[in-house]
Amino acid sequence: MRIAMIGGGYVGLVSGACFAEFGNEVAVVEADPGRLALLQSGRMPIFEPGLETLVAANVAAGRLAFGDSVAAAVDGAEAVFLAVGTPSRRGDGHADLSFLFAAAEQVAHALTGYAVVVTKSTVPVGTGRQIAAIIRSVRPDLDFDVASNPEFLREGSAIADFLRPDRVVIGTDSERARAVLRRIYRPLYLIEAPILFSSLETAELTKYAGNAFLAMKITFINEIADLCEKVGADVHDVARGIGLDGRIGRKFLHPGPGFGGSCFPKDTLALMRIGQDAGAPQRLVETVVAVNEARKAGMAQRVVTACGGSVRGKRIGVLGLTFKPGTDDMRDAPALSILPRLLEAGAAIVAFDPQGMEQARPLLPAAIAYAPDALAAAEGADALLLLTEWNEFRALPPERLAAAMRGRVVVDLRNVYDPAAMRAAGFAYFGIGRGG
Ligand SMILES: NC(=O)c1ccc[n+]([C@@H]2O[C@H](COP(=O)([O-])OP(=O)(O)OC[C@H]3O[C@@H](n4cnc5c(N)ncnc54)[C@H](O)[C@@H]3O)[C@@H](O)[C@H]2O)c1
Repeated sequence: MRIAMIGGGYVGLVSGACFAEFGNEVAVVEADPGRLALLQSGRMPIFEPGLETLVAANVAAGRLAFGDSVAAAVDGAEAVFLAVGTPSRRGDGHADLSFLFAAAEQVAHALTGYAVVVTKSTVPVGTGRQIAAIIRSVRPDLDFDVASNPEFLREGSAIADFLRPDRVVIGTDSERARAVLRRIYRPLYLIEAPILFSSLETAELTKYAGNAFLAMKITFINEIADLCEKVGADVHDVARGIGLDGRIGRKFLHPGPGFGGSCFPKDTLALMRIGQDAGAPQRLVETVVAVNEARKAGMAQRVVTACGGSVRGKRIGVLGLTFKPGTDDMRDAPALSILPRLLEAGAAIVAFDPQGMEQARPLLPAAIAYAPDALAAAEGADALLLLTEWNEFRALPPERLAAAMRGRVVVDLRNVYDPAAMRAAGFAYFGIGRGG
């Protein structure tokens, strides 16, 4: 089957490459000339493990191509996926649908025969019907259907998530569209991945509900971690104690500096607005948004306190900048709210991240220096601040850190280090929720 993918970012590129891997002929349209030039020369504009190899194999097999022409991509395509960004709209937190509606209009002008226009981007309830209305207004003659197929992949394990998903959600009113999507996802039927068919609205809401629930789980354990610190309990033991209950589950019970990333912050905010507009306020989600914002803002103070009440004139080595390991994505990373505050408080910052420094540089104040590796970031530092749990940071021996650093303070906002080992190496160690 011929498939067009509009948008070659984290979702469009991975989805396009995986659909090609299923045996389809996929044309990815990318509007950003810089990203497109990289893709056309065989280089990846984003870091995602395994992606370069998967893309190269499918390009070589003639199943995957990149271009900037929507018309060329949709020619003969039975399905056109929209995978463009839906960031928070400046000022009010609603999802900004301008990229999506512009893409839908381009597709409407370009289609030559029947196709299903499938929204992969995360969009508010009602967007699928708005897309149908846009296409109908541009091309009243056109035979088409719309569907919602939200994407659940995680950056860092995106390919495995796409090829072996927990479930696939497909929302559409049209039996013909269902048949096209069933054919596309046939390889997943063979591995018995659950494929859930629903209405457009249900599929659209399922994505937001899923992300909001996960964000709520993280926020819950973060608040329990704060309580652990006050009462002398250990949050990891609490998390294990509750997580082994099958009704709760063990995942997403890891405390940290507050969730960030390209999805949870904007999607919780958007769901909050959707609920308010629909007259069904999502009060838990509203609280999650507020608690998480306050948490990220409060993290710098934690570092100041760990440094004895002031960081003025102190050098802080920072390990990790991205919102999680396995990606170069800096969108809404906690580093973006913590590090500027530390600079304002008078600290000098030397940071290292294995993949994120290029993306981080334009988003962070120019006064931040970057080190070529983790030990170089720790060199001469009064305090070490771990922000992202990359594996290579876990493996750093405490004695090596102690030898490199001037001071003896470690603030570990992901709890990757063993407090006893850190203390044995002479560090004042500050984790999260490890009150015991
Ligand atoms: N990143 C994730 O982990 C993830 C996971 C699930 C769902 N999502 C959702 O998927 C959507 C895309 O997210 P992303 O992270 O891939 O965003 P992204 O910003 O990395 O990619 C979007 C791409 O679309 C391109 N684009 C915009 N308009 C275009 C047009 N008219 N024609 C061609 N290309 C166009 C942009 O240049 C950009 O490269 C969002 O709605 C997001 O919420 C993201």
